[in-house]
Amino acid sequence: MPLLHLNDTVRDDSNRSYKVTRRLGEGQFAEVWEVRLPGTDLHYALKLEKRKDRNTVRAEYKVMKKIAQSGGCSQVVAVEGSGMHQERFFMLLQLAGETLYDARKAGHGRLDLPTVKAVGLSTLSAIQQLHEQHIIHRDIKPANFVIDPPNAAAGKGSWLLIDFGLARRYTDEAGSHLPQRSDASFRGSTTYASVHAHKDEDLSRRDDLWSWLYMLAELLEGWLPWRLDKEGGEQQPQDRDKDKHWVQQQKELCIQDPHRLSRSGQLPEALTAISKHLAGLSFAAAPDYDHLRQCLQLLPDPQPQLLGLPGQLQQQQQQLDEQAAAAATAGKRPAPGSAADSQQAAKRRRADAAPGSQPRKPGMSGQQQQQQHSSTPQQSPADDAGQAAPDRQHAVQQVDQLLTAMAPLDCLVAMAKAVRRLKQQTLCTEPGLVEEVCRNFAAFVRDSGDGVRSSAGRP
Ligand SMILES: Nc1ncnc2c1ncn2[C@@H]1O[C@H](COP(=O)(O)OP(=O)(O)O)[C@@H](O)[C@H]1O
Ligand SMILES: [Mg+2]
Repeated sequence: MPLLHLNDTVRDDSNRSYKVTRRLGEGQFAEVWEVRLPGTDLHYALKLEKRKDRNTVRAEYKVMKKIAQSGGCSQVVAVEGSGMHQERFFMLLQLAGETLYDARKAGHGRLDLPTVKAVGLSTLSAIQQLHEQHIIHRDIKPANFVIDPPNAAAGKGSWLLIDFGLARRYTDEAGSHLPQRSDASFRGSTTYASVHAHKDEDLSRRDDLWSWLYMLAELLEGWLPWRLDKEGGEQQPQDRDKDKHWVQQQKELCIQDPHRLSRSGQLPEALTAISKHLAGLSFAAAPDYDHLRQCLQLLPDPQPQLLGLPGQLQQQQQQLDEQAAAAATAGKRPAPGSAADSQQAAKRRRADAAPGSQPRKPGMSGQQQQQQHSSTPQQSPADDAGQAAPDRQHAVQQVDQLLTAMAPLDCLVAMAKAVRRLKQQTLCTEPGLVEEVCRNFAAFVRDSGDGVRSSAGRP
């Protein structure tokens, strides 16, 4: 039974009363409701302790008050008041928008690279601000970041930290790092906890950043290796955190090889570099936040690259188009299937080249490109696991047609260059798409081996 209901009235310590307007969330120890100060347009989030005999919200309130008193963090939600309701402590907080967890859900489980970059930079700055106030959070995860202001888009707004129930000061009064305790017990959420947390070790700044890295990998991939069961199937939410030791083993493997954090085995360099930095940090070491920011800078920006191809790649695509069109016109090497097929492909290319149309990336359908250009979510992870979606089949088919219309060796060289660029610039976020196109193409080259040798006049 919830402790509050819509239109209930709650009175704070300053004798101001608030109307309950909406339920925002609920955790193990607290309920969170949106309230409004009647006669005004002022809305707050009210976090209410569930049990009378607990003081978790009061403890959290004290930590947040301390942060505010020592100058505050612009990326920590502000505390606005407190009170008692039905013998339970509550605090009033600045009302923010959706959580990062909600944003990921709305994006069918994933966010695109530019959005992950923006989210990564904003959440890193929130964590750094907190650490600069000598506090570690110890429960960094998507549900504990809320967007400011309400209704801002994931890739545009600033992300604020909430939930300081496990937060702790990591320095003494003189500002020296506290020594590592040997009697710590597990703190955090199994999915995002660092390996040190799994080992019941005392936590420090590096552990907030490990959780942050897992959070970013999940936003990008829609998945974390330990969210699957041992047979590779998706775990049911209630089973997820059960086998903590197995989860720890998966995380240890990912430290050895960060690419394991990606289902395609190709994690962007930005995240592998972050993993390497964190793996080198000792308990009391200060993380190099600037270096982490630089790592994130390796991810693409939403503008202007994704609105059109970067210069070189664009030129390359143009060359490919021209060669393919010339080959198709000369009937040099017809595309597989019917002649009508290649005519249609050429028609599509002409349509793409028409004024006002976006240049097309190799290996991507127009619709896929649009998905990448917008900061809207990518396809659902379920699409990756099962049969190829029609869009993807169309993209693969299109590239195959384009390539097979060219002399194979020229095409091989162009393909190798294009794939290298796609990978370097991490433009092709569709997992396995480049590989699939390459596999098809390799089979085509194998089947026409003589053509490869003769067309180039070289061995
Ligand atoms: N200031 C806030 N603005 C908007 N939503 C909030 C705010 N604080 C909490 N919430 C919502 O309530 C949920 C639970 O809050 P949180 O402080 O994380 O509680 P718990 O300690 O129970 O996890 C959050 O995930 C979020 O959806
Ligand atoms: Mg929480």
